[in-house]
Amino acid sequence: MLALALLALPSLAWAASGAHSHPHSAVNAAATAATSKQPAPTAAYDRTTWQGEEQIKDPNAECTYYSYPPVNAIIGSYPAIWKTADLSAAGISADDKALFRALNATIPQIQPRGDRAGNFQGVVYDGNSDPDCWWTYTRCTTPKIASLQDDVTKCDQPNTWGFTLDDGPNCSHNAYFDYLNSINQKATLFYIGSNVLDWPLEAQRGLADGHEICSHTWSHPYMTSLTNEQAFAELYFSKKAIKQVLGITVRCWRPPYGDVDDRIRFIAEALDMRTIIWNADTDDYNWVTQGLPAIRKNYQSILNNQSAGAYDDSGVIVLTHEIDAGTMQLSQEFLPQIMKQFTGGVLPVAVCMNNTEPYVEQSSYVYPNYAQWAAGTRSVSLAAPTAAPNSGRLILDAQASGGVTISGATVSTAPSASAVKQMKTTGSTSSQAAATTAAKSGASQAVVPGLLALFGVLATGLAL
Ligand SMILES: *[C@@H]1O[C@H](CO)[C@@H](O)[C@H](O)[C@H]1NC(C)=O
Ligand SMILES: *[C@@H]1O[C@H](CO)[C@@H](O)[C@H](O)[C@H]1NC(C)=O
Ligand SMILES: *[C@@H]1O[C@H](CO)[C@@H](O)[C@H](O)[C@H]1NC(C)=O
Ligand SMILES: *[C@@H]1O[C@H](CO)[C@@H](O)[C@H](O)[C@H]1NC(C)=O
Ligand SMILES: [Zn+2]
Repeated sequence: MLALALLALPSLAWAASGAHSHPHSAVNAAATAATSKQPAPTAAYDRTTWQGEEQIKDPNAECTYYSYPPVNAIIGSYPAIWKTADLSAAGISADDKALFRALNATIPQIQPRGDRAGNFQGVVYDGNSDPDCWWTYTRCTTPKIASLQDDVTKCDQPNTWGFTLDDGPNCSHNAYFDYLNSINQKATLFYIGSNVLDWPLEAQRGLADGHEICSHTWSHPYMTSLTNEQAFAELYFSKKAIKQVLGITVRCWRPPYGDVDDRIRFIAEALDMRTIIWNADTDDYNWVTQGLPAIRKNYQSILNNQSAGAYDDSGVIVLTHEIDAGTMQLSQEFLPQIMKQFTGGVLPVAVCMNNTEPYVEQSSYVYPNYAQWAAGTRSVSLAAPTAAPNSGRLILDAQASGGVTISGATVSTAPSASAVKQMKTTGSTSSQAAATTAAKSGASQAVVPGLLALFGVLATGLAL
């Protein structure tokens, strides 16, 4: 039976309202890339190194834009800040475009759905068979395409709390990162590429402080809404910005709002990036609409679940955000109790996966393994963050599972048909096509049993 359903999801207030934009974004969004128009550095402070930048404690001063030469040198070869990435901006190199062309023919034929703000109205999807392992609809984290890796959703060790902070880097967060240093606590930071170019020294501080860095796309869209080209560019340019500003090539990413399916996973894996989700959500960004007490209940619920033994076999990865003063305050309030209860450790995802060398630059950045962490080691050897504006195109290694080896030697060669993935579920592509055709032709739709319950989950739990 082909079961069809309509999905209409609320769009995210803070994304839609432009809460993410600030003066520098506006400068770049105008696509002038004219560094001479940027405001002069604030004289009273050292805004040239992360060590100087982290000394600033006045949030207004922290959030005064500064000019950073290594970013000025590269900004023209990136998509516009905080706009959906694509490959059309004037300065984007032929090499970067060639990487996409080498990959495109192998990408699973799954249609984009909805828009970048998460409006899925009118989208038709077979939620029963879930042909594309679309997380937003079914919370699927085990891809239907056999060769794709499962999403990472939890920490394996008992009573561990995988500590993740999304949406950085940002100005005005020095006090919070000072606090994390004071308790010697490290997290996984999911960085938005546009923020990395806007706040490069703050980005460097995160790495210098010993946190693990992963990508959170270029401009924070619902990824399944994008074309192949846009989805590639969102991931590629976030990864490239992190390389050119921090000096590391990341191999992990988290989809904004969790919105991922097998097409997006395929592109991410081709770019050598593992998809990281979560299995507990504080909903912390929602304090703005729900109030702090409501979010405290969510934190408390995870703590209560721990007390009840929910994590005696394996731990959690918890979704929390840097974003703003409220989310940082909640984190600071609860960390002491979390550290007390989660005796397996409160740790970055790489450490809970026992992955000591999470970046392509392996031996230069060594994190503790799980046993070392449990014994109190918080860092083994981490090279200083180093802007590398001349690093050019990223060469992606053969571990990429997209079936295409993207390297200097092969980018201009079209991939062979044999590189195209085999679907686990035969015919899933055609059933998707049928669903799309039915939607276009306005065919009558059978509603999935239990849809309302699912819809309730989506409507209340989606904005991430
Ligand atoms: C990429 O592939 C899709 C089909 O999967 C096609 O529609 C699109 O035109 C291709 N883009 C480019 C730039 O070749
Ligand atoms: C706590 O456990 C309950 C029951 O399994 C679950 O419904 C709830 O989502 C958990 N709380 C959090 C915040 O994960
Ligand atoms: C940066 O932080 C400020 C204050 O904490 C917040 O209002 C703003 O939304 C943040 N910007 C981004 C891009 O997260
Ligand atoms: C973690 O990796 C180390 C080697 O780096 C190994 O000795 C240890 O058994 C691993 N621990 C776990 C929990 O997998
Ligand atoms: Zn996010």
